[in-house]
Formats: sequence, structure tokens, C-alpha cells
Amino acid sequence: MSKLPGSAGFTVLGDKSLEFYRDPVSFYRQRMDKHRGGRVFQSRVLNRATVFVCSVRGARELLCEKSNIFQKDPTDLMTNMYGDTIVTTNGEEASLLRLSFSSLFTGSSLESMKAYITSDHPKCAYSVFKSLGTQLVLGLFLNIHLDEHPELFHEISQLCTQHWHGLISAPINVKVSMWSSGFSVALEAREKLMAIIKDKLQNDKNGFVGTLGTLPLPDSSSASQHLLLFISALIPKALASLLTSFTLALSGNEQVIAKHTLQDPDYLHLVLLEVQRLWPPFIGGRRIASEDCTIAGFHVPKDYGAIYISHAVHRDPEVFQQPDSFLPERWRERNAGQEHFLCSFGNGPRSCIGAKLTDVFLKEACMYLLKHYNWCMDPPTQDLQYKWLPVSRPANRPTLSFSRLDKSESDSSSTS
Ligand code: HEM
Repeated sequence: MSKLPGSAGFTVLGDKSLEFYRDPVSFYRQRMDKHRGGRVFQSRVLNRATVFVCSVRGARELLCEKSNIFQKDPTDLMTNMYGDTIVTTNGEEASLLRLSFSSLFTGSSLESMKAYITSDHPKCAYSVFKSLGTQLVLGLFLNIHLDEHPELFHEISQLCTQHWHGLISAPINVKVSMWSSGFSVALEAREKLMAIIKDKLQNDKNGFVGTLGTLPLPDSSSASQHLLLFISALIPKALASLLTSFTLALSGNEQVIAKHTLQDPDYLHLVLLEVQRLWPPFIGGRRIASEDCTIAGFHVPKDYGAIYISHAVHRDPEVFQQPDSFLPERWRERNAGQEHFLCSFGNGPRSCIGAKLTDVFLKEACMYLLKHYNWCMDPPTQDLQYKWLPVSRPANRPTLSFSRLDKSESDSSSTS
């Protein structure tokens, strides 16, 4: 058993949260360079000694094989913002919640989702994709549709955004009081959202919200708190992140890939695996070690934090050759059957419960775009440097030109 490379520093003064949240990719790359390519090291974030996991082997141990040791943190900021939800519970309660929710994310929910793609008129930019994602979550989870109740729809979207801003501003201000004005605006937004959600749960017996009301959940507030989580701005942002990365990956010369995908729909699956490998929407996830143990042969003391960084895990050269190249074929060749090495949707017993729903939605949306549009970057050379928090996307919004393939609709647009 070896000692973890790096230093966990001293309490408060040695905290590296700001550096990590400002640029997580430079944070891990600098440390990996310092430790001669070692993909597991320690530092201090959220004022806790923390092991950073950047290898496929380490992530598998953390999320799958040793998931009973590496637990969710019940004091996580998500609990402040969303209350007690599945995201921050552990043990039997978490397993029961997952079991209850599993029925919600299959069958008819997935079928009804397809309507959100074809009824809209997608123009491809991060913000347009985000609004498509918002229509999906509010329509699917709350039965609130933009065309039927535009005012309520906009009110809820705005409240979700305010709530979300409170969540993301807090870790950056770890050294400042949580009761900043942004945080109290977020808490106010949460109260208003909860009132709307409770009203829906009481009075709407249809669809997802209707079924959620009938599930055997631990207490009366559980359904409303989970709905708050499901409609959060987080999910539309993650969907928009993947759709933006997809359209950018297939602009320029890669239009050849687009044609290939249309002729062979299974190829879209490989393209989307490669999109999520290179541009995972979330940088990773966090756990706490409940006892002394090891990760990839390194000793991890009890109470250490543990963060897996998907961006790094997905570029582990032991598994992914030419890790920075966009090569969809790798999933048919050397990496065939290795989808479970990805962690864009987490992994193991606490992986994302919305992964299937996301997969169906994305494939439907991407196929629709491919069938109806040609697109390219306009201008052809742009700065596509990504930022990774809160969700991954190019820091400078890229401009794309879209032209409708179906000439009768003769719709051509340029957007950013
Ligand atoms: C592009 C879309 C999405 C991405 C990239 C994504 C990503 C993730 C990731 C990485 C995790 C694991 C976090 C960890 O290891 O700590 C996770 C968990 C989770 N996701 Fe998603 N997610 C997406 C969509 C959704 C949707 C549509 C839902 C459902 C409304 C959802 C609900 C959840 C829940 C409830 C958990 C916690 C599961 C648990 O702790 O047992 N996600 N997601």
C-alpha cells in the first residue's frame, strides 16, 4: 500500500477549493504532471483532505467495487438547496428510493418525450438547447407546457435559474458566509417553487407527477423535494451541454460522420459515446471514505473526501488510445464493450437514474437535427476552448449556421 502523492495541506489555509472550481482541468493536469503522470493524488477542497481520482481503475474502485465504503456526503450543498433527496442519502434509504423511482424513468415517460423534439423548431446553440431541455423537464415532470401555460412556464424557468445560481455561487464563496444575497434569493425561489410543486402534487393526477404522488416514499415532503431536484436547471444545462458538443463535433469536415450516421443509425450510438467521453457535462462527483481503505493501491484514510474527475478518467491512456482524438470507431474496435468505463453518468449503484431517459432524448434530438439540417461553424475558425463548471461548454459561445435540408420549409438560420 503506497502513500498518496501530493499534500492535503493545513485546515483552511491549505484549502484549494477556489483553484479547483476556477479551472478543474488545469488543477488536475498540473498535479498529474507534478506527480509524473500519476492519476491518483491528494489535495484539500471544501476544507477536507481529498483524494482525486483520474484513472479508469481508480474510478471503478471508487464508484463500483468500494461503493459501500465511499459514501455520499449528507452535508453536501445539494442538501441545503434541495432538502433530503436520493442524491445525498446512503444505505437502505437510497436503495429504496432508487427502486421507487425506477418505474418513473421507463416505459411511457420515455415514449411521451419524443413529442418535445418534433414539436419544436430547433436552432442549435447552447441557450436554445437549454430551453428545449427546460421544456422537456417541465413538460415531462410537471405537465406544464410552454404552449399551454406560457406565463407559468416562464415563471418556473426563472425561479429554477435563481435557485440554481444560489447553488453554484456557494462553493466558490466557501470562505464567505453562505447567507450572501445570492443565496437568500435562491432560498426564496425555492420556497416559491415548492409551493407550485405541492399544488401540482395535490391536484394533478396525470403523468409523472401523478405517479410520483402514489409512490411509497419515506415522508410527505420527499415527493416535492425530488420534483424540485428533477426540474432543477441542472438537467437542461447537462442536456444542452451534450447537444452543443454533438453539433460542434459534427461541424466542419466531420459532416462526413453526419452522413454516415444517417445511413447507419447504430453509428449515432458510437458518436454519442465519443461525445460524452470527451465532453462529459459534469466534471465528476464526490464521496467520503467511511473507513480506511485503498484506491488504486494508495492508502486513503477514513474521512477523506474522494472526487472522481470524468474528464481525466475518460482520457486515461491505459484504456483510451489517442485519448484526445474524436474517434467514434474506437467503440466498435479496441474499446468495444467498454462503455462501463465511462463515468459521465456516474457509475455503479449510485449512477444516474435519468441516464436512460437522457439517452432516448438525445438520440431523438440528434437524429432530428441530422435529418433536417446541415450545419457548420460560421466563421469556420473559432475559439472552442471549453469551460468545465458548472457544466461543460465552450467559454465563448460558438456561432453555427444551420440550413434546412427540406427546401419546402426553406428555413435557414445563424445563431450562437
Ligand atoms: C445529460 C444529462 C445528465 C447527466 C450528464 C447526468 C449525470 C449524472 C451523474 C454524473 C450522476 C452521479 C453523480 C455522482 O456520482 O455523485 C448522476 C446522478 C443522478 N442523476 Fe443524473 N444526469 C443527467 C440527467 C438526469 C436526469 C434527466 C435525471 C432525472 C430527472 C437525473 C437524475 C439523477 C439522480 C436522481 C441522481 C442521483 C442518483 C443516486 O445518488 O443514487 N439525471 N447524474
